[in-house]
Amino acid sequence: MIQVGIIGAGRIGQVHMKSVASGVPNAVIRSLADPMISAQAEQMAKGFGIEHICGDYHEILEDPCIDAVLVCSPTDIHAKISVEAIRAGKHVFCEKPVDHELTKIDFVEEALKASPKKLKYQVGFNRRYDHNFRALRQAVLEGKVGDVQFIRVSSRDPQPPHAGFIASSGGLFLDMMIHDLDMIRYLSGSEVEEVFAQGAVLIDPEIGAAGDVDTATVSARMTNGALALIDNSRKAVYGYDQRAEVFGSKGCVQNANDLPSTMVLSTVDGVTAEKPLWFFLERYMASYQAEVRAFIDSIEQDTETEVGIFDGRRTIQIALACKKSLAENRPVRVDEIKA
Ligand SMILES: NC(=O)c1ccc[n+]([C@@H]2O[C@H](COP(=O)([O-])OP(=O)(O)OC[C@H]3O[C@@H](n4cnc5c(N)ncnc54)[C@H](O)[C@@H]3O)[C@@H](O)[C@H]2O)c1
Repeated sequence: MIQVGIIGAGRIGQVHMKSVASGVPNAVIRSLADPMISAQAEQMAKGFGIEHICGDYHEILEDPCIDAVLVCSPTDIHAKISVEAIRAGKHVFCEKPVDHELTKIDFVEEALKASPKKLKYQVGFNRRYDHNFRALRQAVLEGKVGDVQFIRVSSRDPQPPHAGFIASSGGLFLDMMIHDLDMIRYLSGSEVEEVFAQGAVLIDPEIGAAGDVDTATVSARMTNGALALIDNSRKAVYGYDQRAEVFGSKGCVQNANDLPSTMVLSTVDGVTAEKPLWFFLERYMASYQAEVRAFIDSIEQDTETEVGIFDGRRTIQIALACKKSLAENRPVRVDEIKA
């Protein structure tokens, strides 16, 4: 049984608390750390029988019974906590993004290399574990679409975050599109070589005032020659829109949104179906559980994690290239971005 400590009990910390407690049979949550834990999170933790609840995550790192930590704190301390956890000999699951700066991600990579114990490190790109996106990847792997020529990812949130969130999140490319940048790598099985980003403020002028865009497209060239196109919006009025398509020499695969039900109402006025599931907490719960299950299995079975520190670093490098492309209004090669 793998003993787990969770660091950070906000939105995603609570998701992982629920996932591990209810659906990861070979793991048990021993401790939870959050210096500003909410009454709701504390109640949930007690409900799941978590024995140790503390404010300082170092208590988790110093506990010899803990095998692995899930880093669910704000992004700006992910890399710091990761390095400390690795030095304490813990396996680490770190929420995305690992950091906004390549240098800090390099510290994590160096700590992993220097560790005398072979440790697992996984980054929270949960969409790789979603049933719809995994089905596309499987079709590509089985050669059903032939040589991949074109990938399209549409990723649109139902509502924008408040503008105050923008600065700490790193903005649309580093916080939101990062999932889609990883997705085109995952679906194509190839790396992003060059990007051209365009962006606009069409939804909330306060997001623009905070120095970010709320609407963006990125056109990418992959190293295997395929082309990719991502579109992001911070506000789709009909709900969380999460779709992708892979087109190749033998055909094309695409997925659709998950709906609360498949009911279709047909009347004299027209035909209507349900809107997509509201947001990530509704849409991706199963994938959050699946990714943590895979992490725990990789520890137990001593296998490589599917999404490691390399992926965490590479996606940030691509996101920074997108930011540069938007700022300079030109295509940017990913290898232009250095630590
Ligand atoms: N994979 C996904 O789909 C997904 C979804 C949401 C958030 N995230 C990522 O998860 C991270 C957290 O996001 P969130 O939405 O849960 O934020 P949040 O603000 O809801 O929660 C963060 C929590 O961390 C706590 N915290 C602050 N400093 C801490 C410390 N030193 N030690 C322990 N806990 C500390 C805060 O008190 C808070 O409870 C972010 O990096 C975000 O990008 C990923």
